Amino acid sequence: MTPQRLVMTQPDDWHLHLRDGEMLKAVLPYTARQFARAIVMPNLKPPVTTAQQATEYAQRIRAALPQALREQGITFEPLMTLYLTDHTSADEIRRAQDSGLVHAIKLYPAGATTNSDSGVTDLHRCTKALEAMQRHEMVLCIHGEVTHRDVDVFDREAVFIDKVLIPLRHRFPELRIVFEHITTRHAADYVRSASGPIAATITPQHLLYNRNSIFQGGLRPHYYCLPVLKREEHRQALLAAATSGSPKFFLGTDSAPHEQGAKESACGCAGCFSAPFALEFYAQAFESAGALDRLEAFAAFYGPDFYRLPRNTKKIALSRVQQQITSPIAAAGGSIIPLGFGEALDWRFEGPA
Ligand code: NCD
Ligand code: ZN
Repeated sequence: MTPQRLVMTQPDDWHLHLRDGEMLKAVLPYTARQFARAIVMPNLKPPVTTAQQATEYAQRIRAALPQALREQGITFEPLMTLYLTDHTSADEIRRAQDSGLVHAIKLYPAGATTNSDSGVTDLHRCTKALEAMQRHEMVLCIHGEVTHRDVDVFDREAVFIDKVLIPLRHRFPELRIVFEHITTRHAADYVRSASGPIAATITPQHLLYNRNSIFQGGLRPHYYCLPVLKREEHRQALLAAATSGSPKFFLGTDSAPHEQGAKESACGCAGCFSAPFALEFYAQAFESAGALDRLEAFAAFYGPDFYRLPRNTKKIALSRVQQQITSPIAAAGGSIIPLGFGEALDWRFEGPA
């Protein structure tokens, strides 16, 4: 029988871009409606590189939650991250750990994606920081792509596994790693079969679309994110991993808002804004695989278990209601085109259950 309503433990988003200032105010409510907590990416301009900056950013995020949502009993807990650079010290990792607020350190290979200019040029420059992370059991979140110009864009994740991830884990076997927004069969296979403390997050766009979506009847910038969408065989491998029931795979939207003009441009930004319909997208993907019964664990259990945080206790509900994604989202004086714009969804997020 096809279920008409889904009630589940409130999920968390284990990879999210909230930005800052007016953009933060505009996008935060969408995430806070659906998710109790989120791992907040540090790729601001300039990036969040110290525990002190992370503490201040967390305060701005808390302050940006609108009064109207608070009055509905909605709370939101930002789980902060630091941006790893060639200069991150072991002391900074310790301060991050002591803050109780920073839950991961983020590795962006320099030049890999939006605002990654300060990223790591060579992991050997980060030995002290990595040793400290391993010692303090601090999670390392990884944007897993090499950035050499001579590596094909569609191969960057697979090459990263061989050239960077495997040697890194060889040097730091106890380092707790989240391989973020995986996009290929190679990454899913690697994480599934790897021993030791490694998990992966999977975005809604990589579960729902393949690279054809970027070129459907013309160039479609709102389907462009990094790592870029891959072939259909990879989408299927990711869907199989997400719905497998393995605790190594959990939800991370990578919702990454950019103003419409910044994406519809001669050099458009990477990032899909999925926050307004995040759970609906995942429900759509899981239902397509006949695995709705596995959505709750993927969305609400395996993430906190890996991060060693308590699972949420509140419940939320989605109902089977057809809805069309028709409206741009007003933000910071402009608009953002949400992921799936113009498409139909079979589910609608209701709210607390
Ligand atoms: C992210 C952004 O816009 O900050 N973009 C994206 O395509 N995912 C950066 C990132 O996580 O790679
Ligand atoms: Zn991201």
